[in-house]
Amino acid sequence: MACKTQGVQFNGTKEQEIALKEVIALLRDTKGSLMPIMQKAQEIYGYLPIEVQTMISDETGIPLEKIYGVATFYAQFALQPKGKYQISVCLGTACYVKGSGDIFHKLEEILGITNGECTPDGKFSLDSCRCVGACGLAPVMMVNGEVYGRLSADDVPDILAKYE
Ligand code: FES
Repeated sequence: MACKTQGVQFNGTKEQEIALKEVIALLRDTKGSLMPIMQKAQEIYGYLPIEVQTMISDETGIPLEKIYGVATFYAQFALQPKGKYQISVCLGTACYVKGSGDIFHKLEEILGITNGECTPDGKFSLDSCRCVGACGLAPVMMVNGEVYGRLSADDVPDILAKYE
């Protein structure tokens, strides 16, 4: 997953940086500490932008390429922050056969972002997910955990409008 140049600007605080450095100082000499450091870093910042990965690299001496590789490989790590409104579209089988792919594409088109990204104003983020157990309502999307079911792509603008 590539970072979009139009991504949300990084604005980490001094407190966050101090917290991260404390975590690293604590774990640095432990074998296999990269994952726990990255998990803690994500807890501190809410996501793992390249600026935070660079800090981890500078403090640990682990090459940035390796950290970036781990950050992009594991779904638990987010390279972009979540939006104020977190949209998630179910791409599980029941939803997919009923057209959730079209709903996802409609959202991409309207918001100008794709999977794992956040709009530059920080308002919406878009993710796909596996079955959320509401197959009877397929196809399903959620906004901050609120479920919308039996959708067609034409319903998307009205749903987004609720969160203006
Ligand atoms: S496949 Fe979408 S809710 Fe089950």
